[in-house]
Amino acid sequence: MDVCAVVMAAGEGKRMNTNHSKVVQRAAGKPLVSWVAKTLRESGAKEQVYIVGHKQEEVRAVLGEDVAFVLQEKQLGTGHAVLQAAPFLEGRNGCTIVLPGDAPMITSETLCSAITLFEKGEYGAVVVSAEAPNPKGYGRLVRDEEGNVVKIVEDRDASEEEKSIREINSSIYCFRTPLLLSALGRIDAKNSQKEYYLTDTIEILIRDGHKIGVYITDFDETRGVNDHVELQEAGKILNRRICMRHMQNGVQILDTNATWIDESVAIGRDSILLPGTILRGSTVIGQECIIGENTRLVDAVIGDGTTIENSVARECSIGKNCRIGPYSHIRPDSILGDNVTVGAFVEVKNSVIGDYSRARHLTYIGDAQVGKNVNFGCGTVTCNYDGLDKSACIIKDNVFIGGNSNLISPVTLNENSYVAAGSTITDDVPELSLAIARSQQIVKENWVVTKNRLRSANLIQPDRRREGV
Ligand code: UD1
Ligand code: CA
Repeated sequence: MDVCAVVMAAGEGKRMNTNHSKVVQRAAGKPLVSWVAKTLRESGAKEQVYIVGHKQEEVRAVLGEDVAFVLQEKQLGTGHAVLQAAPFLEGRNGCTIVLPGDAPMITSETLCSAITLFEKGEYGAVVVSAEAPNPKGYGRLVRDEEGNVVKIVEDRDASEEEKSIREINSSIYCFRTPLLLSALGRIDAKNSQKEYYLTDTIEILIRDGHKIGVYITDFDETRGVNDHVELQEAGKILNRRICMRHMQNGVQILDTNATWIDESVAIGRDSILLPGTILRGSTVIGQECIIGENTRLVDAVIGDGTTIENSVARECSIGKNCRIGPYSHIRPDSILGDNVTVGAFVEVKNSVIGDYSRARHLTYIGDAQVGKNVNFGCGTVTCNYDGLDKSACIIKDNVFIGGNSNLISPVTLNENSYVAAGSTITDDVPELSLAIARSQQIVKENWVVTKNRLRSANLIQPDRRREGV
């Protein structure tokens, strides 16, 4: 059967109070409409057409080239939106799935089940519905005594009796394509919002003598996202699904409410995610890692057995059995080998660091090529920027750099050399040698007594923050 999809994504989304298109708002790291596109792909809808209008450039940008777009110049309602796809639908004889761009939680299992019901049942259309604990705001499925659907009524147009119906319209449908086109041609805007409602096509098809099927699913799958409260609820549900998948694959997650994982992230078994972990983009984490607390990884590749604590890493690769953090910042284009230590308040940028090298505290490594088994003393700084250009610092295997050293790039520290603590290194250091670049110490004996500078302790004042709480 020919299955195509029409997604309604032109609306203004007033209730979201945003300067942007509602359907590009992100839930669990992905734009709402991209969740819909992904589910459609998984459900076998090869051709997808998106009805765009309000902020259409934003919707086009997130969906890319693989789908078709139709412009709805004025947003006159959901029925009017789908009607804009008529040129795309004419001549087709199979099934048209219609979905709203603001329903990110629908799964491909449900969509496929609805399509199967549609195929088997000789229906004019199948509506996906759900029992809502609080149906306010949704269209309701009105059924007769025998349980057959009679019509869909919008919340605003519903009688008190209809408002008490808890079965809601998800706005997800399978239509027999020619019947959809025929019904769309006959809807009017005689309702409280003076809009052309897609829901009215159901009553028209029933009047024409067609059967309407209903596929009932979980309410969570059908939820629309109209405002920021619903957006955060959707994010939580989608994120929890992602966390569940990883837990089933052997990842330990201490708190799924405090762990955010993009759909695209991969994590090896026996890794542990502590609260406050945020994993984004194309991040790949190996096995037996410990990530968190409070760690954000964006497009980062992490080897097996590595632990990262209270740190940020982006567009970088970190090898096996590394110890990162607390409070490290690994910036783009950094490649760390295996068994590397990057510790507290250490920043690495565009640098390669060889196996077993360590920078445990308060260090900046930028534009550097660092060999194996190098030790950075506390407070080492690669001075890579002269105000106009960046220069490279080359540090060969087994170099030892004493604390509080400045390496003025471009400069090379050759194999097995030492830099004395407190040095400012401007010239290359030959292998197997020690470089000392600091001024000689002067000691003035008994100076404290002769200058009367003996010090005593100060009392600590109470913390005044308490007054502002
Ligand atoms: C719609 C349904 C309602 C259902 C609910 C489920 C109608 C009339 N109502 O209501 O029965 O319970 O979804 O979430 O269909 N859009 C356009 N062009 C327009 C108007 C809307 O493209 O002219 C798009 C919007 O961008 C949105 C989708 O259609 O993605 C749904 O519109 P929205 O205003 O959110 O409809 P609801 O009031 O939620
Ligand atoms: Ca909606």
